[in-house]
Amino acid sequence: MRYLLKAVATCGFLGIMLLVSDRHVAVGAGTVELGNKLYQARCAACHGSDGKAATPTAQALTPKPRDHTDGAYMNQLTPEYLVKVIKNGGTAVGKSPIMPANSDLNDQQLEDIAAFVRSLAVPLYSVK
Ligand code: HEC
Repeated sequence: MRYLLKAVATCGFLGIMLLVSDRHVAVGAGTVELGNKLYQARCAACHGSDGKAATPTAQALTPKPRDHTDGAYMNQLTPEYLVKVIKNGGTAVGKSPIMPANSDLNDQQLEDIAAFVRSLAVPLYSVK
């Protein structure tokens, strides 16, 4: 009986590890935690620290930034598009110039931010 419990506990643990590693793969080459730091410093003023654009500042913008937790919308954006709009700003993808460029960031930092944005989506983004 004790062995059975141990086996069940081990399987559960492995399952969680799989889920965690799957989540890591799902958000691409970036590191979510590093992206979070950059996001809070550079993006939260307009997008809100949770990416929901629910702050008064975000709501005062025209057009309003999208809710980054809205998976139905956000998960349709390709990884290339995400990096492009973050790096080159809204005008690079035919969107508002209010969305600024971040061309001083290196490729890894851009991937990190994209990974953080991806991690917000509900349901979670998965590679097709
Ligand atoms: C000065 C305010 C401002 C800042 C700072 C800002 N954004 Fe934006 N962002 C916007 C606005 C406004 C839009 C909506 C543009 C549109 O819909 O035309 C937008 C759009 C976007 C989009 C495109 C979503 C779509 O609808 O296709 C992404 C992704 C995004 N921002 C991510 C970021 C990230 C990541 C950062 C930080 C590196 C950031 N933004 C910083 C205002 C801002």
